[in-house]
Amino acid sequence: VNPLRVGITFDLASDHVLAPGMPHDRHAELDEPATIDAIEEALASAGHTVVRLGSHAALLARAAAGDLAVDVVFNVAEGIRGVAREAQVPVLLEALGVPYSGSDPLALAVTLDKGLTKRLWVAVGLPTAPYAVVADEAALARFDAPYPLFVKPVAEGSSMGIDADAVVDDRAALTARVRHVWRAYRQAALVEAYLPGPEFTVGILGAGAEARVLGVVRTVAAGALWDHHAKHGALTGDATPSYEVERDPALCARLGALALRAYAEVGVRDVGRVDVRMDARGGPQLLEINALPLLTPERSTFAMMATAAGMPYRDLIAAILAPALERMRGAAATGTLAS
Ligand SMILES: Nc1ncnc2c1ncn2[C@@H]1O[C@H](COP(=O)(O)OP(=O)(O)OP(=O)(O)O)[C@@H](O)[C@H]1O
Ligand SMILES: [Mg+2]
Repeated sequence: VNPLRVGITFDLASDHVLAPGMPHDRHAELDEPATIDAIEEALASAGHTVVRLGSHAALLARAAAGDLAVDVVFNVAEGIRGVAREAQVPVLLEALGVPYSGSDPLALAVTLDKGLTKRLWVAVGLPTAPYAVVADEAALARFDAPYPLFVKPVAEGSSMGIDADAVVDDRAALTARVRHVWRAYRQAALVEAYLPGPEFTVGILGAGAEARVLGVVRTVAAGALWDHHAKHGALTGDATPSYEVERDPALCARLGALALRAYAEVGVRDVGRVDVRMDARGGPQLLEINALPLLTPERSTFAMMATAAGMPYRDLIAAILAPALERMRGAAATGTLAS
């Protein structure tokens, strides 16, 4: 491979101060410096020259200064604000004509919205729990469905807004929780049937026909919530991971096939993680898809799947970048713009 100048775009938690009154988990999506260091090291070990670009602001500043000397970008930027926050860096890169790894702006904007994502899955007959997006008091008053229900912000990740009170058993609890989501997260609430069964997350690599399952991880406590505390504690080492690699071949094949369809239907490419939970009858129901899964070495579910598949971290990072390089070379060959 020809050595390339590879930029990394990312948002660090430490770069963003919480405004007063914002929920403590408001920035739970943002990366730790150690993860960016690990990605940089992986890219450098492949012979590339790595340029740490940072967030959309740094990207804009460099572009304005004519100092954006990169061939391709490895994007993990989550964005800070707006309904399309994850799409913002890819939008800028497309406008600047710089190829990048990961999903395009459309897929990133759609998948950040769990209601829209579920609507697409329902349209093609994929299994996902019955739901409603509740945006105002009138919709809340009209809403009616059997309890227990699960309430979460319609467009967040990293289990923001998810704790034991997200499960509601009656109208009073539903009302209180939906209003809490409106207030704390300034967005509509997604209300869906509570799924009591075990939970899985399926890692996928590749684009289009090349998309393939990397692995499946299951939560250890069946029926427990995979909430912010459980995830964050395991990532930082404060808690034992409450999840492990699933090895049952039949179950992995079933969940993998479902996840691959879910990934393709919403246009995710290069990398993604599909969350699935079983209903009372043991049927898998799609929860959501993460087009920018955390890539924390060793502790993230994605890194665990790679290790179990015998894929070192540097190969994982190379596998995420590979389809972007293919798009770039394909575009160069045909004289069109890569994205
Ligand atoms: N309908 C449901 N029934 C039961 N539990 C649910 C339901 N929806 C979500 N959960 C629990 O809440 C957790 C977080 O929900 P979800 O995956 O939709 O949101 P997220 O915050 O985007 O997650 P991530 O941390 O993967 O980015 C799930 O992993 C699951 O444990
Ligand atoms: Mg999830």
